[in-house]
Amino acid sequence: MSTTFKIAALAGDGIGPEVMREAIKVLRAVEKKFSLSFQITEAPVGWAGIDATGKALPDATLALCKQSDAILFGSVGLPDRDPTIPKEERPERAALLRIRKEFGLYANLRPVQLPKALAHACPLRPERQGDGIDILVVRELTGGMYFGQPKKTEDYFHEEPQADEGATVIMRRAQRAIDTMVYTTPEIERIAHVAFKAASLRRKKVTSIDKANVLENGVLWRDVVTKIAKQYPDVTLEHMFVDNGAMQLMLRPTQFDVMLCENMFGDILSDEAAALAGSLGMLPSASLGKATGELTFGFYEPAGGTAPDIAGKNLANPIAQILSTALMLRYSFGLNDAADAIEAAVGTAIAAGMRTGDIYTPAEATAKKVGTREMGDAIAAAV
Ligand code: IPM
Ligand code: MG
Repeated sequence: MSTTFKIAALAGDGIGPEVMREAIKVLRAVEKKFSLSFQITEAPVGWAGIDATGKALPDATLALCKQSDAILFGSVGLPDRDPTIPKEERPERAALLRIRKEFGLYANLRPVQLPKALAHACPLRPERQGDGIDILVVRELTGGMYFGQPKKTEDYFHEEPQADEGATVIMRRAQRAIDTMVYTTPEIERIAHVAFKAASLRRKKVTSIDKANVLENGVLWRDVVTKIAKQYPDVTLEHMFVDNGAMQLMLRPTQFDVMLCENMFGDILSDEAAALAGSLGMLPSASLGKATGELTFGFYEPAGGTAPDIAGKNLANPIAQILSTALMLRYSFGLNDAADAIEAAVGTAIAAGMRTGDIYTPAEATAKKVGTREMGDAIAAAV
C-alpha cells in the first residue's frame, strides 16, 4: 500500500514526551508489520510551546496540524508554572480548547475498560465489577459551559446591609465570575447520532446524562436526544440525572454501555468512570470532527494529564498513549487490523504481568513492576 499517513505528534508537557516516545515506538512496529507508511512530525505545544515560541500553540504547530491526517497529542498544562501568564494564554485554553474549537472536534469518545487481569486495580469490590466493566463515554466537546458567552470575571458593587435594620448599606467592591451554558438543537443532534451509532455496534444501550430537573439545557438535551433515538429502534435509551449517574457508576457500573454527556458532565463523569479501570494511565480518547475526503480528521490523546509529580522518572504508564494511537489507526485511517494488533499487544503485555506503578500491587504474585520504556518495549515487541 502506498498511502502515507501524516501524523502530527504533539507530546506537550510533564509525562507527555515519555509516553509519546513509547507510542511512536509502537507505531513504528505496526508500520513494519503491516507495510504501512507513517510520516510522523513532532512539534511543541503547551509549556513546551511557550518556552520555544512564547505561545502555547505555536503557529508552526497549528500549521503542521492542518497539513496532517491526524493529531497524536500527549498532554499539556502544569498548574504550578508561571502564574503571571494570563489564563487565556495558558495551555489548557490556548492549546487544548483552541485545537478542539479550531478543528470542530465535537465528539469525544472515551472508552473505559477494566481488563479481567487488572481487576485488583479497580477500587470497587469484585462483586460490583460483574463480568467486567466496559463503558464508552461520548462527551460533547465544543459546546456548553466551556465555550458559552459571556465568559468573564467582572467587578461590581455588592450591597451589604448592616446590623442596624437596613438603615445603613455598605457598598463593597467585589467581583463576579460568569460562565454561560449554551446548547443548540443541531449540536445536541449530532452528538446524539454519534452515541447511538456507537451503541448500535456495542451492547445497544445509551444512557443520556442531564440535569433536566434544574437546567433549561437539560430539558432541551433530553428532548432532542429522545427524538434522535427514534431513528435507532434497536438501541435502548435511558435518561439519568447527572448526580444519580455519578452514584450509579460506583454502585452498578455494569449497567452502562454508552454514556452520552454534554461537555462538562462528560469531563467529570469520564474521570470518575476512568477510576473504575484502575488507572487513568490506561485510557485512550479520540476527539473527532469534520471529515476531510475519505478520512475523518481526529485528535487522539490519553485521558490523563501531565502528572508532573512523576514526569521524567520513567514511571508513567504509556498504555493510554499507545491505545490512543490504536484509536487513531481505526477512526482516522481505517486501519482496523493494525489497531487490533496494538490492542492485542497491550493485552499480551498485561497478561505477561508487566505493570507500571499505577497498576501494580505486590499481592499479584506473577506481576513485574516495570518502567515506561520497558512497557513500551514489551508492547512493541508483542506487535
Ligand atoms: C480533559 C481535561 C481538559 C478538559 C482540561 C485539561 C482543559 O480535563 O480533557 O478532560 O476539561 O476538557
Ligand atoms: Mg478532564
